[in-house]
Amino acid sequence: MSPAGGHRGRRDAVGGAGGGANALDALVRDARSAVSPLRRTLQDIFEQAAEVSEGKVASYIPELARADPAWFAVSVVTTAGECFDLGDSHRLFTAQSISKPFVYGMALTDHGREGVLERVGVEPTGEAFNSIVLDPATNRPFNPMVNAGAIATTDLLLGKDYPERVGRLLGALGKFAGRDLYVDNGVFMSERETGHRNRAIAHLMKAFAIVGDHFEESLELYFQQCSVLVNSHDLAVMAATLANDGTNPLTREQALESTYVKNVLAVMLSCGMYDYAGEWMWRVGLPAKSGVAGGLLAVVPGVLGIGVYSPLIDAKGNCPRGVKTCKEFSARFGLHCFAAASERRDQRAEINGSAR
Ligand code: DON
Repeated sequence: MSPAGGHRGRRDAVGGAGGGANALDALVRDARSAVSPLRRTLQDIFEQAAEVSEGKVASYIPELARADPAWFAVSVVTTAGECFDLGDSHRLFTAQSISKPFVYGMALTDHGREGVLERVGVEPTGEAFNSIVLDPATNRPFNPMVNAGAIATTDLLLGKDYPERVGRLLGALGKFAGRDLYVDNGVFMSERETGHRNRAIAHLMKAFAIVGDHFEESLELYFQQCSVLVNSHDLAVMAATLANDGTNPLTREQALESTYVKNVLAVMLSCGMYDYAGEWMWRVGLPAKSGVAGGLLAVVPGVLGIGVYSPLIDAKGNCPRGVKTCKEFSARFGLHCFAAASERRDQRAEINGSAR
């Protein structure tokens, strides 16, 4: 495992988009991150989390079962653009449910808050991510982080036809990641062939007119978004973009109107970790989202984004190594959203080495 500097090539690719200035920024960022106390602390947390062996590789989508359980990566990107990558941070995997908060941001942009709330609630369910439950009072899915709510959210994405909707989706996710993203067709086909439960959910919502006539096309789009390939560095950039009021700190491109960021972060905090969301908020206190292929991202608003990859998944669909990493990170830096002032260490000073 090469803990440091593995991304110089790709980061230059990101820098490449903006030419000389960005390349110099990248160089300065590299130099600073290499000596930062944050890197030492991250290395320590990484080694601790690597000891966690709980969980198993998901297989209900057969293609996911090909992942090596030993793969592990942690990445952090600050709103100032500093990047820290440890472990298998080049390793690509599919975003799965991590696509949901970003697609929710697109739906808010397309329809506004009330327009989306008409179709998808914002209440935690306390149930599993793929549970076939709707709110008995409104027949709406409870929130956009569980599969039902995510499928209804994707159904809201505007576009004259399927290719245009796919193009918009990949374009939007790419703005968050700061590079073009692609779909893993093997995982897409595998999910499509075994997606009976999601189909049942979609048909149930059609019966209650929660989704529209093109709902089967929307289900295809949902399988596409779940099959988008990312790595831990991409997840950290996507999280840092949310931490930076919707603007990507590396490309400086706006990925989401700042007014909607609070709504995306709110459902990530209350629902992002499914039926572990309560304990997560109690222990870690950061907006987060997990994916069944082993990704986990967490946001420290105004400061940084964290991206973790470990294909070992627990019964709730979260990766235990990612949970351990974020628990440690939150505890050591006082990152909990309700942390007392005395607990909040000056993260920025910590990050750029000026802490005393
Ligand atoms: O629809 C599914 O079941 C998957 N494509 C996504 C589920 C998932 O990532 C759950 N997260 N932990």
